[in-house]
Amino acid sequence: MFNLFQKKYFLRDHLDNFIDIHNHILPGIDDGATDVETSIELVKGFQKLGISQFIATPHVMNDYYPNTRERIIEAREALITELELRGMKETKIKAAAEYMMDQAFLELVQEEELLTLMENMVLVEMSYFQPPINLNEILFKLQTAQYKPVLAHPERYAFFHSKSLNKYAELKDRGCLFQLNALSLVGHYGKNMQEIAFRLLEEGMIDFLGTDTHQLRHLDKLSTAQLFKKQIELVTPIIKRTKETFVF
Ligand SMILES: [Fe+2]
Repeated sequence: MFNLFQKKYFLRDHLDNFIDIHNHILPGIDDGATDVETSIELVKGFQKLGISQFIATPHVMNDYYPNTRERIIEAREALITELELRGMKETKIKAAAEYMMDQAFLELVQEEELLTLMENMVLVEMSYFQPPINLNEILFKLQTAQYKPVLAHPERYAFFHSKSLNKYAELKDRGCLFQLNALSLVGHYGKNMQEIAFRLLEEGMIDFLGTDTHQLRHLDKLSTAQLFKKQIELVTPIIKRTKETFVF
């Protein structure tokens, strides 16, 4: 397939003016930026990649990060204030969330307005160990409430991996959009995740790209990530679609 002597290309050369729709840059509310200072460092790191527009997606996970809508909006305000103080006015940040599909989420869907990526699109995730037993019920309730689920990093769920990709096809049939993590393309989460990432791209199943940046080391890795020409050709249409869909 690909040999060691083929030329490689920097992914970062295709990320200029990208809009990152999945990241943990808001300060102090999840396992991403620990404080405002760290958030600023991350924003500066993104700037070097040519990225200054963000839809921030802190975890909303009942057991670990029980973030509320208000708390997320406050964290965004704190970061915006600091960015303005430092004259970093070109940075644009919208507040959304990455919702864990747990029992509390099911209740939240029925009780209040969710923070969306845009219009009715909601970023959702699940445990890496097993899918929620009531996954179909959750997806159904989300859609009954007029939301469109965007599944974060589908390639990272090993329990969905198979030759036929039938589990993924089923999720797409159930109305899920898929957001791929950029670092999956260079094997950051493991070989299997990388393989599935490219298979999903080849099958035209990926809708959007996101970085899922939690720490500076993720940005360092993104800045050095290189791909073969064919791989770049698979991912550039997804980068384009992400920019066009989530335009600020
Ligand atoms: Fe995430």
